[in-house]
Amino acid sequence: MSQAQSRRMRFSMFSTFCPGAGPPSHWHHPKAINFDYTNLSHWIELARKIEEAKFDCFFWADFNGVHDTYKNSTAPAIELALQFPVADPVTLTAALVSVTQNLGFVFSANVIQTHPTEFSRRVSTLDHLSNGRIGWNIVASFQKSAWQNLGYDDVEPHAVRYRRAEEYVNVLYKLVEGSWEDGAVVRDVATGIFGDPSKVHPIGHKGEFYRVPGIHGVEPSPQRVPVLFQAGSSSNGRDFSARHSEAIFFVGNGDNPLPTFANFRRDMVQRLKGFGRKPTDLQFFVGRNYVIGSTEEEARRKDRELQQFLRDTEYVTAYMSSIMGVDFSQVDMDKPFGDFQSDAIQGLFRQVAESYPDKQGTFRDVAMVLALNRFVGTPDQAADEVETFLDAGVDGINYQQMTGTHEVYGFIDHVCPVLKKRGLMQSEYAPGTFREKLFAGTESESGPLLNERHPAAQFRARKDAEARTGAALAESTG
Ligand SMILES: Cc1cc2nc3c(=O)[nH]c(=O)nc-3n(C[C@H](O)[C@H](O)[C@H](O)COP(=O)(O)O)c2cc1C
Repeated sequence: MSQAQSRRMRFSMFSTFCPGAGPPSHWHHPKAINFDYTNLSHWIELARKIEEAKFDCFFWADFNGVHDTYKNSTAPAIELALQFPVADPVTLTAALVSVTQNLGFVFSANVIQTHPTEFSRRVSTLDHLSNGRIGWNIVASFQKSAWQNLGYDDVEPHAVRYRRAEEYVNVLYKLVEGSWEDGAVVRDVATGIFGDPSKVHPIGHKGEFYRVPGIHGVEPSPQRVPVLFQAGSSSNGRDFSARHSEAIFFVGNGDNPLPTFANFRRDMVQRLKGFGRKPTDLQFFVGRNYVIGSTEEEARRKDRELQQFLRDTEYVTAYMSSIMGVDFSQVDMDKPFGDFQSDAIQGLFRQVAESYPDKQGTFRDVAMVLALNRFVGTPDQAADEVETFLDAGVDGINYQQMTGTHEVYGFIDHVCPVLKKRGLMQSEYAPGTFREKLFAGTESESGPLLNERHPAAQFRARKDAEARTGAALAESTG
């Protein structure tokens, strides 16, 4: 792959397996067809179209609870279809990998929803079925209703959630990297020997939250560890990403997210270096909506209509209530947020707050942040912005639908050809797994597995390891 291609922008299609695709997208917009979300053919069509357009991946947000902070009630979420009802994207992924060949699939999964042993079995299975096209967005849920419905009394404090996530990923690494050595699967029909027991090791994990003494239940898959995404950007979230993730999300605010992005990126690069990783080991995906017109005037008209539509419902306010952990029905929305602190999604609030250095942004500004985070203009102007983002160190766009798939198809028909012509978007997929495709041509290109700088590598059961026993593995990893 040429140097120019390695500089290309990556594209992820953000979605949620629910009627409205995800904020700020509304299920009842006149042109939205996501209300058909329980119909598999809807998703097959979308997956095939974005693969044809050479998007890098599909990305699913997912929630085990309900956005019920607003009015302290589940009613707004049910009435407005606020990322609710939400079906299981992991199951959907299994169906969609069978109708695509190159597209990556990244699903969000909360570390409290499944025990790490079972989750590791699930990701190994999907990695096999997709031939290495799986990614996982690591989530330590901020939703109280999720924790309670999963059997906990209350949501754990922010720092404890990240400690739990840290242990959870370590168990995954031990199982999928450390348990089965290369060569453990013999598959010798002549002798009838399937596997070599001396090369399959118990992980002996005993930690603060989990106990997993035994061996991994699935033979090694192409990537072993799925490509790791993470969206939290509080100080804890940033450290977690700098240590573990291969992609991080940045939620832009308003017309120009680049000044706050520059601070964020600089900070992340420092943290990456602190953990012995290269800046190119982590890719930055910026969330962006697109309102496209054949002329600038047409795009602005569409945008005015859309903003009016969004302001006329409580959807965005109710959603941001949940995200910020504050009931916006109880605050004066036109008051500056000042020194407000949140224990929910700290990073997002911090990103918004940084774009108001005088702290004079209002709670309404915060509530509208997702709706305002959009590009408005012609396809050529959109490509200009993509180029500016690329120059600023953005690696990927997390495309957030405003209204539904009809708008995505417009982007594919009118903007993608311009992007490809200008070398800003890939015209062909690189060979190999999702990890190989994502990092092809970068300094972090390293094959299907996580590179040696990643903490998972220390758990690897090496081909050349002499008599590496389960006891030795447990001892070396704690
Ligand atoms: C773009 C984006 C996508 C996210 N997707 C999910 C999700 O699907 N499910 C979820 O429970 N949390 C999701 N989150 C929340 C994060 O996983 C994380 O819990 C949150 O950002 C809190 O971390 P922080 O305080 O470190 O920022 C998302 C956040 C962002 C910014």
